[in-house]
Amino acid sequence: MRVFNSFNPPARLLLGPGPSGVAPSVLRAMSQPLVGHLDPAFVQIMEETKVMLRQVFMTKNEMTFPVSGTGSAGMEFCLANLIEPGDEVVVGMNGVFGSRLKDVAERCGARVVAVEAPWGRIIEADQIAKALRGRRAKLVAVVHAETSTGVLTPVDEISRLAHENGALFVLDAVTSLGGCPVKVDEWEVDAVYSGTQKCLNCPPGLAPVSLSPRALEAAGKRKTKVQSWYLDVNLLASYWGQERVYHHTAPITMNYALHEGLRLILEEGLEVRWRRHEQNHLALKAGLAELGLEITSQAGHQLWPLNAVGVPDSVDEAFVRKRLLRDFGMEIGAGLGPLKGKIWRIGLMGENCTEENVDAILKGLKLAIKNGH
Ligand SMILES: Cc1ncc(COP(=O)(O)O)c(C=O)c1O
Repeated sequence: MRVFNSFNPPARLLLGPGPSGVAPSVLRAMSQPLVGHLDPAFVQIMEETKVMLRQVFMTKNEMTFPVSGTGSAGMEFCLANLIEPGDEVVVGMNGVFGSRLKDVAERCGARVVAVEAPWGRIIEADQIAKALRGRRAKLVAVVHAETSTGVLTPVDEISRLAHENGALFVLDAVTSLGGCPVKVDEWEVDAVYSGTQKCLNCPPGLAPVSLSPRALEAAGKRKTKVQSWYLDVNLLASYWGQERVYHHTAPITMNYALHEGLRLILEEGLEVRWRRHEQNHLALKAGLAELGLEITSQAGHQLWPLNAVGVPDSVDEAFVRKRLLRDFGMEIGAGLGPLKGKIWRIGLMGENCTEENVDAILKGLKLAIKNGH
């Protein structure tokens, strides 16, 4: 029998599209002893987490809690609970995660009307208006911060259009929550999901979600059962609500992590945190310009936590990433789909969004590019 050594991960500075660095106090929280998932102490942490999540999502929605699973579980949760077979839904597609939304919606039985924009550009509100015309769409779903392209789609007008046409509005806030404004009540978002591994200072493993009363009403009026037992909001509500009925065994340590990650966000303050992300994004952009590099996503809509950087023709994209990892322990991301080989994705998310890390990645890039011509 082969015996293995305990795993000792190498030191990495995670400056890619996620996971991003985890706050030391979050790691400490994760190493605390387990309690049972129905222990009064765990119930207390659940209650506090719901309160903090409402503050971070900027919502009064009662139905706000973390789904056990990664960001994609949050996506499935929102769509599976709101879509019934045969429903028509409008989906914005301007990158990998818009395409995933379409795929998940189709698996829920929806007839999807895809609203496409070139990768790196936003979904325009008038495209959504056009798609809604003459239809009775059940919902409109868009990705707020497209991690595959580094673009931030403004969504308040899209939400207004959805409601004007009797549709619900679903938002992917996986990369935006905790890194730039996500105003669930002000923007009248009906269903929103995020992930813990981007700007929330935590490892991957939970998907914070929030449903508006309007979304809950729609879920309550379903004629068919939610096809996913695990993600059925009615069942989850009995666990995360006051009844505390066993549904599944919540990942205890991940909930410790989220509790601490959210606590740190609120201690810093949302506005201060957003400014920190904006300032470091701008500092990175200025430093990139000095290296002759630029951010390729649509001007005026560039995402703060995730920067898509154009790779010069003369530079070997993969070589630079490998050198950064080998020589400096820094991870950045590659381009996906049509952007493969054309961009690097540099994440400045949550804990890792610091001036020091901006300086470090600029220095690293400069050296790696010099060797990568
Ligand atoms: C915008 C967006 N949506 C959804 C997801 C899916 O999240 P996960 O990989 O945690 O399942 C990601 C992950 O990178 C994302 O960036």
